[in-house]
Amino acid sequence: MAMSAIDRRHFVWLCGAMLLTGGARVRAQQQGNRPPGTHQDNTNGAEWITRLERPDRIPGLKIDDVISCLTLKPGDVVADIGAGTGAYTIPFAKAVAPLGLALAVDIWPELLDYMSRKADAARVGNLQPVLASLDDPRLPAHGVDVAFFHDVFHNTNDRQAYLRRLVTYLKPGGRIAIIEQEFDDPIAKKWDIPEDRITREQLQDWMAGVGFELRAEFDIFQGANNPPGTGMPARWFVVYGQGTSTTR
Ligand SMILES: C[S@@+](CC[C@H](N)C(=O)[O-])C[C@H]1O[C@@H](n2cnc3c(N)ncnc32)[C@H](O)[C@@H]1O
Repeated sequence: MAMSAIDRRHFVWLCGAMLLTGGARVRAQQQGNRPPGTHQDNTNGAEWITRLERPDRIPGLKIDDVISCLTLKPGDVVADIGAGTGAYTIPFAKAVAPLGLALAVDIWPELLDYMSRKADAARVGNLQPVLASLDDPRLPAHGVDVAFFHDVFHNTNDRQAYLRRLVTYLKPGGRIAIIEQEFDDPIAKKWDIPEDRITREQLQDWMAGVGFELRAEFDIFQGANNPPGTGMPARWFVVYGQGTSTTR
């Protein structure tokens, strides 16, 4: 059937609008899709699965090195906060088995379901999914040896308040490990926006605010140590523990 001039104009307008909407959506995803005034990345669970399950991403996570830097041992309870598809959580669960526990914490139920299926397939029985809220990882009180964040902490909104709550979930002697992007890295710039940037100095202040001090720093994701070709930016990696001179 032939198109009238009006139909044709409408068709062209529709195609243009679809292209524009598609372009905006891609840009929004690449820029992390932040609701104004928040640091929250609104990428949904299904989109995260596509982004996080790229096979070329895995070598960039240096999972065994991270486990060794964290000195995880059987019996530990480790919370992987913003666990995504469980790239770290499942190896963490294996590292703390048989009596330890890996808590897979995320805000998207789809990710927790996906990860639970992966854990079942890998016959990992000591991984427990936890549905968090944006401002609260909802962990067991005084129950966690290590709270771990890889490429997540910059998405919390009030970072000081988040840490204040987080320390109530740690066992005495518990630690907080944070791996964060160097936002000047071109790959980080592609995915995130400057307003979400956190620096080591800011983190140091927030940690001091809860009486925590730097215990260790690792350069395994810096410079030549960061494996090329994985699509992962350079990152800093710090571990904090409760200070000896301050009380929380
Ligand atoms: C860049 S992905 C990192 C996933 C995983 N850590 C990894 O490296 O494979 C960020 C993850 O953090 C989750 N997330 C974002 N904000 C969060 C929050 N406030 N609390 C817990 N998880 C959050 C997202 O749903 C997503 O799964």
